[in-house]
Amino acid sequence: MLASVITGFGGTELFAVAEIPEPVPGPGADVVDVTLAGVNYADVHRRRGEHEKPPLPAVLGADVVGRRRSDGRRVAALLRSGGGYAQVAAPLRRYTVDIPDSVPDEQALAVLEQGLTAWHSLHTLGRIDGDDLVVVTAGAGGVGHLAVQLARWAGARVAALASSPAKREAAIALGAHVAVDSQHPDLGTAVSRALGAPPTLVLDSVGGKTFEQLQAALAPFGRIVAYGVAGDVANTVAVDDLMTTSTGVHGFWLQRVLDDEELYRSSAARLFHLAGRGVLRARIGGRYPLAGVGQAHADLESRATAGKLLIDVRRLT
Ligand SMILES: NC(=O)c1ccc[n+]([C@@H]2O[C@H](COP(=O)([O-])OP(=O)(O)OC[C@H]3O[C@@H](n4cnc5c(N)ncnc54)[C@H](OP(=O)(O)O)[C@@H]3O)[C@@H](O)[C@H]2O)c1
Repeated sequence: MLASVITGFGGTELFAVAEIPEPVPGPGADVVDVTLAGVNYADVHRRRGEHEKPPLPAVLGADVVGRRRSDGRRVAALLRSGGGYAQVAAPLRRYTVDIPDSVPDEQALAVLEQGLTAWHSLHTLGRIDGDDLVVVTAGAGGVGHLAVQLARWAGARVAALASSPAKREAAIALGAHVAVDSQHPDLGTAVSRALGAPPTLVLDSVGGKTFEQLQAALAPFGRIVAYGVAGDVANTVAVDDLMTTSTGVHGFWLQRVLDDEELYRSSAARLFHLAGRGVLRARIGGRYPLAGVGQAHADLESRATAGKLLIDVRRLT
């Protein structure tokens, strides 16, 4: 099979298409003939060798759709050890979900990893309700553009952050009430002004100064859910400040959902249901051939993209 392989950690030029053996499924794994693989910001961290370093040579890629070889059914799957940028994958059966007929492949792929992150950040941790004033960082991004739609669907007033006018327009088109420049020097004031009052719920995937400013802007009893550090600076939190401001900080990692198969399957089914009804509509921000994985990474990390990026693994160039 063909795969996009890295043999070192660093820049986007490291990706090379190679003919390699198909993965051998371990115990409890399925073989899937992949049609589309997703690109996630976590793949950028892995390519750079940040956080966790996969053994080399490595095939990155954490989410796929395709046909399960054993029964020919259309499935979506998460791959916790990579292997997505390839024509065949071997995901664990417990991370493999059937796709309903009402949901096209690309929508299923876009709403699984990123939709679960948005859903659990908003609902399980954020306890969103219709009175909330919500801020979504990277509000046109893969997770963010789904969070904007889900927050709006929950009845909240939503401010999306994005770094270009085109992305802010995209976030508004997806349902954000207002959009704010993510590089505004005083983000706290800017979002409170845009929402008409301080935010009560913030979803943060950027960290660093973005987290700091948005946390400080929270209304009393507000909460911030941190699920990413795209800005590469992790924050520490002063618990005494949380007491005086009466605010909360949550962290989210999708692995904790995957650890609970029932929670994973039920929330994936809910997202597919919403996607099937058109309540949740993933925007496809780019479709690249297998030889274009490096370009997809370059576009993602240069903050040029809106929505979900897909690799068409059956197309070489
Ligand atoms: N915790 C989990 O289990 C989990 C699961 C999935 C994803 N995530 C995290 O969720 C975040 C979003 O992932 P995604 O795949 O959907 O990516 P994405 O949002 O499509 O792309 C990243 C976005 O982050 C913003 N950004 C802010 N500072 C940045 C910087 N210094 N460099 C690059 N981008 C920056 C950019 O938006 P603007 O330019 O518009 O500001 C950029 O478009 C990532 O942090 C990812 O690691 C976490």
